[in-house]
Amino acid sequence: MKSQKLLFVCLGNICRSPTAEAVAAHLIRQKDLPWVADSAGTSGAHDGESSDPRSILHARRRGYDLTSVSRQIRESDFYDFDWILAMDSSNLDFMKRICPDPALLSKLSLITEYCSERKHKGVPDPYYGGSDGFDEVIDILEDAIEGLFERLLDRSDKI
Ligand code: 4NP
Repeated sequence: MKSQKLLFVCLGNICRSPTAEAVAAHLIRQKDLPWVADSAGTSGAHDGESSDPRSILHARRRGYDLTSVSRQIRESDFYDFDWILAMDSSNLDFMKRICPDPALLSKLSLITEYCSERKHKGVPDPYYGGSDGFDEVIDILEDAIEGLFERLLDRSDKI
């Protein structure tokens, strides 16, 4: 089976995308897949920081360990990863602008495209809100990443 390298991207890389990385890593381990999950931010404002303590706490309660350290997306990511999944449309638009080669644009998508229902246009930023927002991030991401994996596993049967 072809290895898939997945990069999840939000603004600060301390709330949504590290949660996505942990949910994906959990599924990769559970399904014993030769895949890699990583995450990055479009802003470098939190470079070198651990994830937001509220994200760590809510993820832990749902069985996920957030261990990633914030870093900004870099040009080599567009070459190194097979799938680059934005948490919302502003992060997707930013990546389309900085993508170093139009041939790589097909790697970019919005993570909520893979949700079972088309009700979310992105993963809402929980940073300035209450604790419910952090749980909602996990709800949306579990659904979206399950859908993403189904799509990729279905493709790998046919290639
Ligand atoms: P994230 O959340 O993009 O999901 O990591 C945010 C983190 C920090 C800020 C905004 C959103 N901030 O403005 O510092």
